[in-house]
Amino acid sequence: MVTDFLIVGSGIAGLSLALKLSTLGKVLIVTKKQKAESNTNYAQGGIASVLADDDNFDLHIEDTLSCGCGISRRDAVEKIVREGPTRIYELIDIGVKFSEKNGRLLLGREGGHSKSRIVHAKDLTGKEIERALLHEIAENKNVQVLEYHFAIDLLTNRNLKEKNGNYKLTAKNRKENACYGVYAYDIKKKKVEKIIARNTILATGGLGQTYLHTTNPAIATGDGFAMGYRAGCLIENMEFVQFHPTSLYEKEIDDDTQVFLISEAVRGAGAVLKTRNGREFMHKYDKRKSLAPRDIVARAIDSEMKKSGDKFVYLDPSPIGKENIKKNFPHIYKTCLSKGIDITKEMIPVVPAAHYACGGIKTDLDGRTTLKNLFACGEVTMTGVHGANRLASNSLLEAVVFSDSIYKYIKKNIANIIPKNSRKEEFGKIKQRVLDWNDKGTINADEWVLVSHDKREIKEIMNDYVGIVRNTVRLQRAFRRIKMLKAEIKEYYKRTKVTVELLELRNLVTVAYIIIKSAMKRKESRGLHYMLDYPRINDKQFKKDTRLIKY
Ligand code: FAD
Ligand code: SIN
Repeated sequence: MVTDFLIVGSGIAGLSLALKLSTLGKVLIVTKKQKAESNTNYAQGGIASVLADDDNFDLHIEDTLSCGCGISRRDAVEKIVREGPTRIYELIDIGVKFSEKNGRLLLGREGGHSKSRIVHAKDLTGKEIERALLHEIAENKNVQVLEYHFAIDLLTNRNLKEKNGNYKLTAKNRKENACYGVYAYDIKKKKVEKIIARNTILATGGLGQTYLHTTNPAIATGDGFAMGYRAGCLIENMEFVQFHPTSLYEKEIDDDTQVFLISEAVRGAGAVLKTRNGREFMHKYDKRKSLAPRDIVARAIDSEMKKSGDKFVYLDPSPIGKENIKKNFPHIYKTCLSKGIDITKEMIPVVPAAHYACGGIKTDLDGRTTLKNLFACGEVTMTGVHGANRLASNSLLEAVVFSDSIYKYIKKNIANIIPKNSRKEEFGKIKQRVLDWNDKGTINADEWVLVSHDKREIKEIMNDYVGIVRNTVRLQRAFRRIKMLKAEIKEYYKRTKVTVELLELRNLVTVAYIIIKSAMKRKESRGLHYMLDYPRINDKQFKKDTRLIKY
């Protein structure tokens, strides 16, 4: 298959970019499950943007920078904040129905924000955005969506015939390496095909499934991070994994479980964190109490749980009032009720859960990665916005702003990307040069137990040793184990025909490896990375991004 623009992923980043790129050429989206299945689809709180009369850009910029603990990039932060309102109105123009009152957008409040600025659609904001984007995509003749197509690896110089798999990436030749598309596994036909594209865009979302407790759906196995790493992209700040303070506590967790989120907007509306015996505790940790930034709240909960030995703390929603709970948080109300908790009458047991990756594939302000012809947008990226901790509801915003930047960059350079004399151009030759998928010598191994055991082990290691509170001994122990698993999985992968389970396992272990490797480099505590043996921030040595690149 050949296309002008190949987008991997059908969340907010991929879909909003696809609509824009469709004005410049043919767009193919590959997505590994049904098209709506994404982190986007589960977003509750909303999108942060400066729209209130009493708010201004400087305040949103300062809130974002302060949350990022000194290592956000000011230019990237200014960009998302200043472009925010335009991108919100674009979403409204394509049919997203945000909550309104008297013809004005209703603005919610979340942790770390000094003003009410969260545009939302009740407590199902992501679902409404995904619905509207997919509706537009369905009408668009220039966009094709291939569901159940799993991108395995990026096609790079290593996959060109003349190199025959022998291209060795080095610091010297890195700049000549380029991306030509992906190998994708057609899950229904059980067949791997090559998809060749002039430009490829990774919009593969998050990595929450690397941990046992996560708010992320089963698709969030960090595939994009792993693919980018293997292809030699610069990856940054992977140690900053954000734990959402309030996911619903459940006794039993299966391997692919997505724990249910209790939106920060619930605290924004007045709900208060309490211990099991009903005492407030957040005043001991931060003057913003239950609405402090997430790293502080998650650590406070972790510390209270460790002190008491309890497996959860409570969120008391009673200050919101029964009617307002039902009106503004209908999804949370109904879901909790279905699990036997009536939140208009009782407190909600909550625990922190892995939620968001602040680091990722490094991009510039145009969304370009360090690999030629490869762009990235959304959660898989490290644009410089979030620094050491993401401000609530800045993620959907970052995704729409940076997908727009990619569109603008490509539009500006379209004469080089799709030259008019297309017959003679280099792209025509590339199609002949890319190697077909070769699985000679591999077998159909029926090793379900091995795969599921390894997956559970990775998730437990990450939960126990690379969670909210870390130290050098725990990280070293985790690294030794993950390195061994990585080597075993690599061997197993080489001799086995691909399955989704195997591909995801390979990516999970790679992502775990790069998170720990990054975490071991940062010998200080900053934002989401808290080290017991280096409890202070160390600007002198570490006020910088953690860089990883694979040669
Ligand atoms: P996703 O929406 O995750 O989309 C990724 C896509 O890539 C999916 O379609 C997936 O199937 C596909 N994919 C992945 N790997 C492959 C592969 N190998 N091959 C093919 N396809 C692949 N942020 C906010 O700003 N506000 C909120 O209120 C908010 N609430 C949240 C609530 C929850 C429960 C969660 C989990 C996250 C929330 N976030 C929120 C974070 C935010 O939703 C995500 O960061 C954002 O939606 C990411 O968008 P994306 O397009 O980058 O990725
Ligand atoms: C939430 O609704 O609490 C999630 C918001 C976010 O992750 O930005």
